[in-house]
Amino acid sequence: MESTTWKSVIGHAGEATPSEPQDEAGEYLSRNPSRLDDVVARVRLAAPDTLVTAAEEAQRAQREWARVPAPVRGRVIAGFGRLVEANKESLASLVTREIGKPRTEALGEVQEIIDTCDFFVGEGRRLYGQTVPSEMPDKQLFTFRTPVGVATIITAGNFPVAVPSWYLVPALLCGNAVVWKPAEYAAGAARAVAELAWRAGVPAGALNLVYADGEATFRGLETALDRGLVDKVGFTGSSAVGTRVGELCGRYLQSPTLELGGKNPMVVAPDADLDLAVEGALFSGWGTAGQRCTSLGNLIVHRDIHDEFLARLDEAVRGATIGEPTGEVLYGPMLDQKFADNFERILKDIQPHHTVLGSNAVGRISDDAPRAGFRGDHAAGLYYHPVLLDGLRTDDAIFRQETFGPIVGVTTYETLEEAIELGNAPGYGLSAAIYTTDPATAFRFREGIGAGMVSANNSTSGAEAHLPFGGNGKSGNGGRLSGMWVIDQFTRWQSLNWDFSGKLQKAQMDVGAIEPEWDYRLPAELGGQS
Ligand code: UN1
Repeated sequence: MESTTWKSVIGHAGEATPSEPQDEAGEYLSRNPSRLDDVVARVRLAAPDTLVTAAEEAQRAQREWARVPAPVRGRVIAGFGRLVEANKESLASLVTREIGKPRTEALGEVQEIIDTCDFFVGEGRRLYGQTVPSEMPDKQLFTFRTPVGVATIITAGNFPVAVPSWYLVPALLCGNAVVWKPAEYAAGAARAVAELAWRAGVPAGALNLVYADGEATFRGLETALDRGLVDKVGFTGSSAVGTRVGELCGRYLQSPTLELGGKNPMVVAPDADLDLAVEGALFSGWGTAGQRCTSLGNLIVHRDIHDEFLARLDEAVRGATIGEPTGEVLYGPMLDQKFADNFERILKDIQPHHTVLGSNAVGRISDDAPRAGFRGDHAAGLYYHPVLLDGLRTDDAIFRQETFGPIVGVTTYETLEEAIELGNAPGYGLSAAIYTTDPATAFRFREGIGAGMVSANNSTSGAEAHLPFGGNGKSGNGGRLSGMWVIDQFTRWQSLNWDFSGKLQKAQMDVGAIEPEWDYRLPAELGGQS
């Protein structure tokens, strides 16, 4: 495929930071991680001012956009969904090319945008408020959902098209304007999504795309918040950066929507269907090279089945095909060089008390450390061996921290209470799974585990587009994306008191009351006792 060059729409004014990979013209190069010489997009990274300008633009456009009737905005979302559907193959190919997500998963990711649009088309004709009775006569109460205003949305690149749509679609549907700052290493996919949204009729000012690095984004956001240009921040990324975003927003009395990391546990109970559990662990642990927020982190396996389960899982991981993401592979490359660098650091946390399984080597797949059955040219991209680590202890860094790479640790348990405690111990709370054939075990697990999303006999990944998506603890601040729940993130309730009595009726004071006969007791014929 030929390299395409895109310029960011609003990103011209800025300077790229020297730490980012640039060409001689100072442009950031988004590379294909499975073929690093393939430049997918070239963009200018903006200076902080550009984010401020974009927020000003959004603020101007928002008033107009909010005046478009919600059902008509819903039709725009419908158009966006249909355009995405018509471009599904191309968009999925771009995702595969730019971040190395295997084709089947990339198609699934694009489908998630379509599903999200399908849900919100209907919401354009609902967006219900309520009529509420007043405590006084000739007075009527109402509630309305009003748009929040301008939303700055900062997204990661591991789901470069689906996760942004979880923010953009409801935000726009509810009448907000958006400044979207996607991950620079997914710049091309972001541009394609924005293009489809604009072509569907989203006004340019209502959706502003800005490419910037993290520091410029933070500084631009700070100024925009200070000037009252941003009313809502949505952020998907690491817990460390999310904490900074949360602190910043808190200063301006705003509660951002934070979708952060995970250390998602999977419990395998002694009565589990082991083959099913192996399949679930393989997909959620190593699929997308472990770079989903919902990726499996710690496997918590019952002592009695530990050896049998581990033998089967080791065989499955060893047999899995890794390679070029255009083919039938379990996973392809790391998303980008910085994720490869991070994974190299994580691998240093492997300790002598760990048993390393899953492949014939650890680290980057190379001529010196080839991977059996690798499909394609391993030297061309950022490919890593899968790691299955047995003997994990609760004070190990790999047990406690998100690893964001193709590595899964294993520990054992005896009682369900202990399994739940181990699942909660790292302090994240995004997703969790249990494999068991006993419904009571599954329900007790659900009750005890702190995750926002729980699966029984399915993996930690694979949330559907109309269920609440989000986490607790270090995984977020309680907000939920998707379905009807996300509407609370992008609207504020407004109440209306409408008094048509022609006089001032004072709440709590001018309220009539009907007094009961407090002394009444049932007579003998109605069962009275005295
Ligand atoms: C993410 O990793 O940020 O549940 C989102 C899943 C996907 C979404 C993951 N539907 O794995």
